[in-house]
Amino acid sequence: MHLAPSILAADLADLAGALRLCEDGGADWVHVDVMDGRFVPNLTFGIPVVAALKRRTRLPLDVHLMVEEPSRLMEEYVRAGAAGITIHWEAEIHLHRALTALRQWGVRAGVALNPATPVEILQDVLGTADHVLLMSVNPGFAGQAFIPEALEKARRLQAMARRSGRPLSIGMDGGLGRGNIRAALLAGVDFAVAGSAVFAAADPVQEMLALRQAAHAETV
Ligand code: DX5
Ligand code: ZN
Repeated sequence: MHLAPSILAADLADLAGALRLCEDGGADWVHVDVMDGRFVPNLTFGIPVVAALKRRTRLPLDVHLMVEEPSRLMEEYVRAGAAGITIHWEAEIHLHRALTALRQWGVRAGVALNPATPVEILQDVLGTADHVLLMSVNPGFAGQAFIPEALEKARRLQAMARRSGRPLSIGMDGGLGRGNIRAALLAGVDFAVAGSAVFAAADPVQEMLALRQAAHAETV
């Protein structure tokens, strides 16, 4: 299970400190939640913030764009240093074009789905996306309760990807912690985004290790 801590749940006045915690905890990616106040009711990280994060870490930045018309903004986030960009199916009319452009720019191209959006609508972009991010909360805020139906969506998506014969990474985002990360892995999820579970823990570095252990523990 790859781990992408979401710095939205960290101390926002100390983002450099949050990056150090991610590095010390062996995170695979740093998840950066960009919100525009329209697609979701919150405003977070602009392009200069992502550029500043990039200067402070060698970990790849996984930029989750919760914005309307992400294709208008995504190139600037790539220039700022994003290694992966995830855009919402619900927010982009020209999804195929946007994903193709991301790949051409050499970044990991991802599609996110809100809890109410069925995975079946992705059938015709499976070959164009590197990963799908299944939202297990309604996007907008860290610290919300996990929506368990996301697990069934992961199983269905994994079956679709297998049938298509194309490699697809499946991520899950929202409400993940020690208690459900193994269920996510068993449902086909190979990268987990975790905000509060990591940054609200007394020891975020230890918590990242504990999350990995929980994912791979045979007994749970
Ligand atoms: C939700 C964001 C998530 C969120 C995860 O809108 O996309 O990445 O920060 O935080 P937790 O793990 O606290 O639900
Ligand atoms: Zn996110």
